[in-house]
Amino acid sequence: MDGRIQLRIPFPNCSTEFLHRHLEGNAGRKEKWKRAHLQLCVLLLLFFTFGLASAKKWDGVVVTQADFQALKALKHEFVDFRGVLNSWNDSGAGACTGWAGIKCVNGQVIAIQLPWKGLGGRISEKIGQLQALRRLSLHDNVLLGPVPTSLGFLPHLRGVYLFNNRLAGSIPPSIGNCLLLQTLDLSNNQLTGIIPPSLANSTRLHRLNLSFNGISGSIPMSLSRAPSLVFLALQHNNISGSIPASLSNLTMLEELNLSHNQIAGRIPDELGSLARLNSLDLSNNAISGSFPESLSKLSSLVTVNLKNNNLESQIPESIEKLGNLSVLDLSNNKFKGQIPDSIGNITSITSLHLSENNLTGEIPISLVNLQNLSSFDVSYNNLSGIVPSVLARKFNSSSFVGNIQLCGYSSSTPCPSPEPETRPSPSQGAPKHSRRRKLSTKDIILIAAGALLVVLLILCCVLICCLIRKKAASKAKNRKSGGGLVTDRSAKPAAAVGREDESGAEIGGKLVHFDGPFVFTADDLLSATAEIMGKSTYGTAYKATLEDNNQVAVKRLREKITKAQKEFEIEVAQLGKIRHPNILA
Ligand SMILES: *[C@@H]1O[C@H](CO)[C@@H](O)[C@H](O)[C@H]1NC(C)=O
Ligand SMILES: *[C@@H]1O[C@H](CO)[C@@H](O)[C@H](O)[C@H]1NC(C)=O
Ligand SMILES: *[C@@H]1O[C@H](CO)[C@@H](O)[C@H](O)[C@H]1NC(C)=O
Ligand SMILES: *[C@@H]1O[C@H](CO)[C@@H](O)[C@H](O)[C@H]1NC(C)=O
Ligand SMILES: *[C@@H]1O[C@H](CO)[C@@H](O)[C@H](O)[C@H]1NC(C)=O
Ligand SMILES: *[C@@H]1O[C@H](CO)[C@@H](O)[C@H](O)[C@H]1NC(C)=O
Ligand SMILES: *[C@@H]1O[C@H](CO)[C@@H](O)[C@H](O)[C@H]1NC(C)=O
Ligand SMILES: *[C@@H]1O[C@H](CO)[C@@H](O)[C@H](O)[C@H]1NC(C)=O
Ligand SMILES: *[C@@H]1O[C@H](CO)[C@@H](O)[C@H](O)[C@H]1NC(C)=O
Repeated sequence: MDGRIQLRIPFPNCSTEFLHRHLEGNAGRKEKWKRAHLQLCVLLLLFFTFGLASAKKWDGVVVTQADFQALKALKHEFVDFRGVLNSWNDSGAGACTGWAGIKCVNGQVIAIQLPWKGLGGRISEKIGQLQALRRLSLHDNVLLGPVPTSLGFLPHLRGVYLFNNRLAGSIPPSIGNCLLLQTLDLSNNQLTGIIPPSLANSTRLHRLNLSFNGISGSIPMSLSRAPSLVFLALQHNNISGSIPASLSNLTMLEELNLSHNQIAGRIPDELGSLARLNSLDLSNNAISGSFPESLSKLSSLVTVNLKNNNLESQIPESIEKLGNLSVLDLSNNKFKGQIPDSIGNITSITSLHLSENNLTGEIPISLVNLQNLSSFDVSYNNLSGIVPSVLARKFNSSSFVGNIQLCGYSSSTPCPSPEPETRPSPSQGAPKHSRRRKLSTKDIILIAAGALLVVLLILCCVLICCLIRKKAASKAKNRKSGGGLVTDRSAKPAAAVGREDESGAEIGGKLVHFDGPFVFTADDLLSATAEIMGKSTYGTAYKATLEDNNQVAVKRLREKITKAQKEFEIEVAQLGKIRHPNILA
């Protein structure tokens, strides 16, 4: 018994192709059951390779003559810049054991996997002799020439990964003969011609990626006969015609990308039956008509991009039913009417782009409910009224510009205050109306500028005052430190307290006297010599010697440390009244 049989019997779905699809990287969303299945498959694969190892000698030696010749022809037509095919030497015996990128079963090649190897040249038509080939993976090389027609002779072919090369010519219609084909990824090449209708004969097709080529013609109606299609990517081609309504038969479809083509016509209502669709990108085409109400039924939709088309009429209120929607881009179309209030009910929205349409009315206040909104653009419409302040704060003016009657989103677009302004006669109509608006905006700017000037002037005055005071203060300090007393008699006949500034004559500081024999002013203090006695969080205590040689203790309190000034003064006054033999006056 060899491992291959063990692999197939218990899990019919667990083909190597299944694994490849999931290990290939861009396989898309993985449902839970799929992941569980994948784990089982991995377990089985280990088992399989173990089984294979014991059968290897037998398998490896007997590479069929046809396969050996085919591989030799392939090597002959490749241009192997890096020598990655050096192991493909003339000793055919090693083809299944030692040749780079080759996998065999029973002496037949089942997989060629040489991605990212810098391979140039062409893919030989002799590849059609590899009758057991299931997987052809030559992506990310620099291959030229056509996709071999002979691929159509390979009945077991399941995966064709030729993306990111320089393949040219058209897609061979013969590929439709590969009835087991699951993945065809020819994206990012230089292919031209049409999408062969016969492709739909591959009814197991799961992923079809023909994006980033020069493919023309229309989307074949027949594609709807490939019911297992999950990913359909045709973006960045020259595809024209309209979207066939029959695409609605692809009920497994999760991702539909037709962007950057020349597709015209309407979006068929029937697409509303693609219940699993989570990403719809029809951007950069010439699609007209309206946003079909039926699309609102697609509750799995996460991304909807219809940007740069000719869609018109209103955005339907029913759009709120798209409860999983995260990205909605309808910019640069001809949508008119109001932004539906109900968009505020799609709490999952993170990005909402409606710019360059013909939308009118106000920005619905309901949009402030969109807590996760991180990208928002309604610029270049015909919106009016006040921008909800939450949005105005979150997004800069580039999200709102180009709406003449919209206000309150930046300092240069203040909303007119409610008091009436001089109105022109109403008979002059709408254009006059907007001119008046413009004028009043200018007025407001002028007034604002004036106000700003006044504020600046006041600020200047205050600054100058402060500077003068600071200078005086530092002068005083210099004098204090210059003539400090050294003797410490710790006499506290009286305490003077100033709160902020020594110059009690000015606003801010205030000198509070304790009861005592001396009466002095702040100016007296300024001309006194002083030494610091101590510092605390409340401020600094000085011993000051006045000009008449009387000594006082002065505590300067820091601002905002003390309680309310009134209370403080009362308490200090009471302290100062305390007389005791052990306390100096
Ligand atoms: C062929 O290549 C294999 C693997 O690189 C090597 O072991 C073998 O000696 C080569 N045979 C010849 C005839 O070059
Ligand atoms: C299709 O191919 C393009 C370009 O290689 C790639 O970016 C995209 O992810 C692919 N999409 C799918 C669904 O495979
Ligand atoms: C494949 O498709 C073509 C055209 O769509 C059709 O005529 C032909 O019968 C199909 N072949 C098979 C084997 O189904
Ligand atoms: C989100 O999508 C899932 C299916 O993918 C669906 O079951 C669910 O109801 C959707 N949620 C909402 C709020 O529509
Ligand atoms: C949002 O949904 C609630 C409940 O379904 C509904 O009552 C309300 O009218 C909706 N709001 C808008 C703006 O459509
Ligand atoms: C908003 O984003 C947070 C974090 O990404 C997420 O947990 C939350 O579910 C989101 N809210 C909605 C309504 O989607
Ligand atoms: C926008 O709508 C107005 C009237 O609602 C119409 O006159 C104007 O042509 C429209 N502009 C565009 C670009 O569709
Ligand atoms: C903007 O909307 C007003 C009506 O609200 C309409 O009269 C005017 O033509 C519109 N302007 C444009 C450029 O669509
Ligand atoms: C507005 O913000 C976006 C990013 O959120 C930034 O790219 C753009 O430069 C900003 N524009 C202005 C005028 O500040």
